[in-house]
Amino acid sequence: MRKNRHGWQVLSSVSSPDQQYCVDVYALDGQFGFAVFRSDPEDGGRWTLLPGQGESGFSSAEAAARAASGGQVSKLFRLPELWITEVGEASSRLGPKDNVVGSVIDHYGQDQPIKVILAQLKQSGHDLNELGPDDLAGVDEFHLGGRLATVELLTSASLTSDSRVLDVGCGIGGVARTVAQTMGCHVTGVDLTPVFVSTASELSELVGMSAATSFSVADASNLDFEDDYFDAVTLVHVGMNIEDKVGLFTELGRIVASHGTIHVYDIMRVSDGEITYPVPWSSDPATSFVERPQAYVAALTAAGLSCTPPVNRLDLVRLAVSKAKDQPPPVNLSHLMGSGWPTMFGNLSHALGDGIVAPVEIVARPNG
Ligand SMILES: C[S@@+](CC[C@H](N)C(=O)[O-])C[C@H]1O[C@@H](n2cnc3c(N)ncnc32)[C@H](O)[C@@H]1O
Repeated sequence: MRKNRHGWQVLSSVSSPDQQYCVDVYALDGQFGFAVFRSDPEDGGRWTLLPGQGESGFSSAEAAARAASGGQVSKLFRLPELWITEVGEASSRLGPKDNVVGSVIDHYGQDQPIKVILAQLKQSGHDLNELGPDDLAGVDEFHLGGRLATVELLTSASLTSDSRVLDVGCGIGGVARTVAQTMGCHVTGVDLTPVFVSTASELSELVGMSAATSFSVADASNLDFEDDYFDAVTLVHVGMNIEDKVGLFTELGRIVASHGTIHVYDIMRVSDGEITYPVPWSSDPATSFVERPQAYVAALTAAGLSCTPPVNRLDLVRLAVSKAKDQPPPVNLSHLMGSGWPTMFGNLSHALGDGIVAPVEIVARPNG
């Protein structure tokens, strides 16, 4: 499949009958988009990108093609009816990495969660103009132990209000807001799932934390930040979706400052035994890469980092669960993940109860 000069993998290209315009649907880092070009007479008919006419961040090639067919392009020329099917077929020939990324986005990004979250908060008697970060804690801390686990994670970080923190795989922004609120510093969040990133920004705006947090779409293993930039990096319940952990930790090691820390808190395998799917991080085994704590330590070491011994945080999770039973939050993860949530959570609870997986924390630092 050809790559163009923007690094896009072009899946399908179609020109207008008069050969004046052309539209490409492309894949980039597991997401999809479309771009519009005009044949430039001043440049010997070369295709010139028309800025502002395309769109990116779609979770499937078909969605990008559908958007292209219905949007601005329809004013320039009519796309052939069969095009969407053609694009779908081309996307099925993408390599395994592209497909994992696309499936992860599909798993998390099914709905528009903001509407459900706000409707639920309203229904439980909250004034939407008076919301604070704490009101969101049942839904925006998408990991075992919720807010309690995030605060605990920070105890090993030496942060001040001047620190720069990156939350990798930020979901809808709960960890970032908690870190920013607790430490008074700015937190940047990145995530693969576009609808989670837009929801994270909207929620920060709603609770008055837009200046303290910022969010963008990115793949954890390929970040657009300078070397040695962040004082701390958090990775909370994200590694289960990433197969190449050495690649991931090499990238996190690159962007963290030499005095900085990387705080990993993932669900890890602690004994043999089968995991039943779906689970909260994956609909099926194809996008699930749950590893043993020893494999994390080996990957961190191979990436040039040193780390603390892994700590099983199951007790802290039990404490958080008993607190939530006494005071159920107004919104919870079923409002983010939809009707499949009880089955996902049930399967995870069994795997935890049977001692197959556990929530494990590791703190890593650059060597020397
Ligand atoms: C279980 S959620 C955890 C969200 C957040 N860390 C929290 O604790 O609230 C996992 C998140 O990781 C993101 N993710 C998975 N693979 C990723 C990757 N390669 N790069 C960036 N984000 C990724 C998903 O989109 C999802 O938002």
